[in-house]
Amino acid sequence: MVLSQPPMPNLFTNPPRLPLIAPSILSADFMHMGDDCRHVLQAGADLLHLDVMDGHFVPNLTMGPDLCRGLRKELPEAFLDVHLMVTEPDLFVDPFLKAGANHITFHVEVVGAGQARELVRRIHGGGATAGLAINPPTPVQTVGELAKEIDLLLVMSVNPGFSGQKFMAEVLDKTRRIRKDLRPDQRLEMDGGIGTGNISSVVDAGCDVIVAATAIFGIAQPERGKVIGALRQAR
Ligand code: DX5
Ligand code: ZN
Repeated sequence: MVLSQPPMPNLFTNPPRLPLIAPSILSADFMHMGDDCRHVLQAGADLLHLDVMDGHFVPNLTMGPDLCRGLRKELPEAFLDVHLMVTEPDLFVDPFLKAGANHITFHVEVVGAGQARELVRRIHGGGATAGLAINPPTPVQTVGELAKEIDLLLVMSVNPGFSGQKFMAEVLDKTRRIRKDLRPDQRLEMDGGIGTGNISSVVDAGCDVIVAATAIFGIAQPERGKVIGALRQAR
């Protein structure tokens, strides 16, 4: 069954406000995923970030297209931002598009420029927006001309694989440089170790989509609205 994206304007190309707050479901309650995700959206989150890991590109195995399909059915209006931390993104773009993903980001470390261009075209052809992710050690130059073709660039502020890791402030310099090269209609997302203690430096560096797993899903439900508000108001 193909669950197409809801006919809403795409959140990344038509943001109602910035920064957008994107709780990563990596730290959600997997036994009550639908309720836990509904709760963060009602508490003010703008979208859901799905951290897909294949146990090869990163040393962890997390979720697949069927979880995305379940979320699309449970939360038809939710914007689903899929982050592919996988060695072969080529295998997963179509299954996630069919499962109702609104956005798909893949890592620049595993594709050549030609394959990246083809993946972006396929993601756009499936009605979703496309993003490239770079790990902390990866230089900005690796993105090159692809920067013109994507809707979002994701700067990892931890070495991907697990939630709850320490924020790597050394990525802020390259983030500032990337922001200068991106157009105002392109989003700059950061993911890893972000919370109320370091959000100001993340926003100051030019990020306008904030991923947080532990800082949001890792706290009691009644506290989440306050944290989401604090992350959004940061300056
Ligand atoms: C890769 C994942 C994590 C996760 C964020 O490891 O992408 O970065 O989203 O987890 P926290 O916010 O707990 O660092
Ligand atoms: Zn992620």
